[in-house]
Amino acid sequence: MARQLTWLGHGSWLLETGTHSILLDPFLNDSPTSPVKAEDLSPDYILISHGHFDHLSDAASIANRTQAPLVAIYEIAEWFQKQHGVASTVGMNLGGAVQLPFGSVKMTNALHSSQLPDGSYGGNPAGFLVKLEEVTLYFACDTALFGDMQLIGQAGIDIAVLPIGDLFTMGPDDAVAATKLIQPKRVLPAHYNTWPPIEQDAEAWAAKVREQTDAEPIVIEPGQSVSL
Ligand code: NI
Ligand code: MN
Repeated sequence: MARQLTWLGHGSWLLETGTHSILLDPFLNDSPTSPVKAEDLSPDYILISHGHFDHLSDAASIANRTQAPLVAIYEIAEWFQKQHGVASTVGMNLGGAVQLPFGSVKMTNALHSSQLPDGSYGGNPAGFLVKLEEVTLYFACDTALFGDMQLIGQAGIDIAVLPIGDLFTMGPDDAVAATKLIQPKRVLPAHYNTWPPIEQDAEAWAAKVREQTDAEPIVIEPGQSVSL
């Protein structure tokens, strides 16, 4: 298996560690930009950052077909169990980490909201700090800019994934500010160009990252990958 991170459009990512594949925030079959359908993916683990439909619409079908454990904040893990019959879940909460066969997954703060599609309470929204053997990744997921990103960066981030779409999350300028706080080696934009209200010029954002930070911005299209 490759060691790579593939953008599946919007906030959806497939992380392949060489031994395991981890699917983050699957929004595929109803996404205007996803290069794959839910049926095409058989991840070993599924991570869900928060309760919004554009982060979990395909999670139950994939979890139930593959039996992949679904990792989420406690309230969302329980909702998948009770409402969708997902057999294997890992419920956690902000600040906590769980050791999984491929590495550790820590649930980080996110400034956002998190109601589930049926109106259920989804707990707090989250991001993920994923520590593989040689690579540490930070997925900010849907969030505003916040100062504690500097603390998250102290883990030594190789790859940060930040939203730049604006309106529902940080926009490009705040994502540059976030990059300064996190100080990752490489930074990838997400959560943009899915629909007209979150259209952004990612190359313009990348130019600012290059000018103002030491991070290497990497702009890819849905379906493309970066190696770890
Ligand atoms: Ni959201
Ligand atoms: Mn979203």
